[in-house]
Amino acid sequence: MTTTPWVPGEPGTLSDGRDRSAFPTDFLWGTATASYQIEGSPTADGKGASIWDTFSHLSGTTSEGDTGDIACDHYVRMPEDVALMTGLGVNAYRFSVSWPRVQPTGSGAVEPRGLDFYDRLVDQLLAHGIAPALTLYHWDLPQALEDEGGWLNRDTAHRFGDYAGVVAQRLGDRVHTWITINEAVVVSTFGYALGTHAPGKFLLFDSFPATHHVLLGHGLGMQAVRHAVPGARVGITHNLSPVHAVTDSEEDRRAAAAMDAIQNRMYMDPVLLGSYPDPDVVMAPIDRSCVLDGDLEIISRPMDMLGINYYNPTLVKAPGEGNPFPFEITAMEGYETTAMGWPVVPDGLRELLVGEKARYGDALPPVMVTENGVAYDDVLVEAPAASDVAHVDDPKRVEYLRSHVAAVAAAIDEGVDVRGYFVWSLLDNFEWAEGFSKRFGLIYVDYPTQRRIPKLSYSWYRAFLGGPA
Ligand code: BGC
Repeated sequence: MTTTPWVPGEPGTLSDGRDRSAFPTDFLWGTATASYQIEGSPTADGKGASIWDTFSHLSGTTSEGDTGDIACDHYVRMPEDVALMTGLGVNAYRFSVSWPRVQPTGSGAVEPRGLDFYDRLVDQLLAHGIAPALTLYHWDLPQALEDEGGWLNRDTAHRFGDYAGVVAQRLGDRVHTWITINEAVVVSTFGYALGTHAPGKFLLFDSFPATHHVLLGHGLGMQAVRHAVPGARVGITHNLSPVHAVTDSEEDRRAAAAMDAIQNRMYMDPVLLGSYPDPDVVMAPIDRSCVLDGDLEIISRPMDMLGINYYNPTLVKAPGEGNPFPFEITAMEGYETTAMGWPVVPDGLRELLVGEKARYGDALPPVMVTENGVAYDDVLVEAPAASDVAHVDDPKRVEYLRSHVAAVAAAIDEGVDVRGYFVWSLLDNFEWAEGFSKRFGLIYVDYPTQRRIPKLSYSWYRAFLGGPA
């Protein structure tokens, strides 16, 4: 489809020409962030260390040695950031709670000042008509728990359940939407299998206990939230990617099925079906002895919603000699790529949503796209004259969003029950191992001054949501 680029001042349409009215009136429109990526203030108000505080300070772990010590200084500037959301016209905001702010050592003693911060945030949001969607875990595990084995240790799942109950008791009277875990696949794969994220363990398939215990944590956390907040909407957020084989050969198709199992099914099947994928499909040396009787019942308790984060599809071929994995990821030719090197494939989002519905049928709860967005090399243009304001033109992000939101509309047309869409991210922020080198925000952050400069994409989203173009 050839689309006409959006021009500032025009109504905020999608790439297919439709507008917000194509969606249900109670659809949640928001942006998403995560505690370690934006908050800074790593020791304020009694906060304990997280694995990211530790990991980012080790040499060679992040681009330029960046850390989240200051990040977007959101812990201090939260009211300003809520004002920017209000100006944008969103009706929802997905944020995460930092576990070590609430329980500095991950268990036992609660730090009331840490909880107070989220209490104030929730009140500010509600005062501006913005519904909070709260993620309990977006990767900042208390270091004290990592010292006991982290997610490899079954006890961490129980500690997470306790922590979920603490947060739910405090905020449950005002927060309706609860997400237990953000992207269990990334926690386990990057954190424990490949070591590119905190805590930096390189265990390859011996990382499976981390996968299982994170999912068990989800089940226990969901139970704790439900207990504290009757009527809460609770679920998990998965990072899913449609997987394709590079050719139709038997080897490539088996490799694609293995990748799909390891990236997607290993996380979807336990929560929706109460089982892990067939070892013959996974084709990897995974010891499943950490899965105890009853665990999968806890993990597969019905959810009220499923969060899906989408960035790109994956193209796979059979592994070469010496590859420890049963697949090899290969570049998708013919697509534009982002600053992360990821292909831009809007239809992959429609395909994903429709595909998950086709696969799981009525077992699939209502879905929210809890993250979707893009990094480009945005450039801040300083004001040429005193009367002018600095600006950031990011027309490619505008088109990315227009086409991906259109893909969500197309999936709804095809019968998928989608209830919300959250742009990753509100602000440029600490992009994990990439540090501050990658910018995903609708708002540019000039880190040395902490100035926030809304980008062109912020104007488009505002216009789409019905605000001034
Ligand atoms: C994560 C975010 C991250 C984004 C872009 C998602 O996997 O949840 O924390 O910033 O992708 O890489």
